[in-house]
Amino acid sequence: MSDKRQRHYIVGNWKMNGMVADLAQIEAIDNAAKVHGAVDVALCPPSTLIARAKAKAMHIRIGAQDCHAKPSGAHTGCLSAAMLAEAGASFAIVGHSERRADQHETDDAVRGKSEALLAQGMGAILCVGEALETRDSGQAVPFVLEQLHGSLPDNSDGLTIAYEPVWAIGTGRIPELSDIAEMHQALHGALVRRFGDAGAAIRILYGGSVNGDNAVDILAIDHVGGALVGGASLTAAKFEPIIAAAR
Ligand code: PGA
Repeated sequence: MSDKRQRHYIVGNWKMNGMVADLAQIEAIDNAAKVHGAVDVALCPPSTLIARAKAKAMHIRIGAQDCHAKPSGAHTGCLSAAMLAEAGASFAIVGHSERRADQHETDDAVRGKSEALLAQGMGAILCVGEALETRDSGQAVPFVLEQLHGSLPDNSDGLTIAYEPVWAIGTGRIPELSDIAEMHQALHGALVRRFGDAGAAIRILYGGSVNGDNAVDILAIDHVGGALVGGASLTAAKFEPIIAAAR
């Protein structure tokens, strides 16, 4: 196990939240990351704030919430990996369930985005996760593994996985800890089969209603390499306890 894998990775996803006035929160989160230096911390503000957030970020990485698979062209409203890198992002989230649902992104599209990021020398946090019906029908593990295989880039360098059950996002509900453990074990096994030793070093984050109260228990689970946090990342007051739990 490499050092990198042993450090927990706590990533905040601000989604469509965050105005210039919220840069003070980014500064405070940056300061929390400095205090808890044994934890890797990152924040994905909306693209409009990436450059300004980057200027404040001394101890955290700044990422984007999505990127286009193509380097340039007639894609109104989209941003390429190179554009995001120039703005100050060192990685992007791809395949978040909200984009898979709202923008109808397929596994193929998600794979293209992660390939584009890695080709640009950036990181990619590739999200997978099942809907409640799939969980209830007992098919969560095979469903998520199929989603993973369909979305994985060819190369694993710079890759992070996030397991986010769709029904746990923004709902205050989380799976049984044993279900998180089962899924992360299965994902880890699949990554090792696909990438060998490099696959064993890929961090697998858990996401979905992580907060300061449940983070210690979730982060203690085998093969949980960190957390992808939405609502509780919007203020330093809520995000810092999660960073502290990862030490
Ligand atoms: P949540 O969102 O922490 O608000 O549940 C997690 C995510 O969507 O990444």
